[in-house]
Amino acid sequence: MHSSEPGRFITLEGGEGAGKSTNMDYLARRLQAGGLSVTVTREPGGTPLAEQIRALLLEPGNKSMHADTELLLMFAARAQHLRERVLPALARGDWVLCDRFTDATYAYQGGGRQLDAQRIEQLERWVQGAFQPHRTLLFDLPVELGLKRAGQRGSLDRFEQEKTAFFQRVRSVYLQRAKAFPQRFRVIDAAQSLAAVQAQLDPLIEEMLAR
Ligand code: TMP
Repeated sequence: MHSSEPGRFITLEGGEGAGKSTNMDYLARRLQAGGLSVTVTREPGGTPLAEQIRALLLEPGNKSMHADTELLLMFAARAQHLRERVLPALARGDWVLCDRFTDATYAYQGGGRQLDAQRIEQLERWVQGAFQPHRTLLFDLPVELGLKRAGQRGSLDRFEQEKTAFFQRVRSVYLQRAKAFPQRFRVIDAAQSLAAVQAQLDPLIEEMLAR
């Protein structure tokens, strides 16, 4: 479908076990039911090449990966994904729903790995220019609950093997960013039941559709 309206870039963020994927499906269905053309994608990944970079990043055996290497690979995957998938979809008029984006880099590499936020800003400017999500939905929940939910999924990737303190820093940077960019962020209490989370999403979907 070609539209004269420019598309919208919506990102979903949150710690482990926050239920982003399930709620992404719900969002996509609701937007499609409203007649919109929707592209669903994720980071790191979203294109064949970026998915190969994702595999390197998540492989539990890659224990020697330096935090700088990790940061650069996140932005390498992002550069590819933006140019090959996200920007073309937006140019077609699609609404692009993306499971994680640069806020995750501030939270995980900045908060979790404690890399200097200025480094991240430099790479963000280089890879994205002024490009930012139109809306970011932050699925927030206590770290212990998220890890308990994520642990039920079976084998753990390289990030999921981190300690609780790492994820506390991740959560705190996400919440700081939501406070710093209130026009872009909406915070969802993801500790609640799926039905209650979707009830929180409904008015946010209406708000997005109305603008
Ligand atoms: P996922 O589990 O939500 O699919 O994301 C994969 C992992 O990658 C997750 O543990 C968070 C991490 N990640 C970062 O560390 N930095 C980033 O910029 C992104 C997009 C993800």
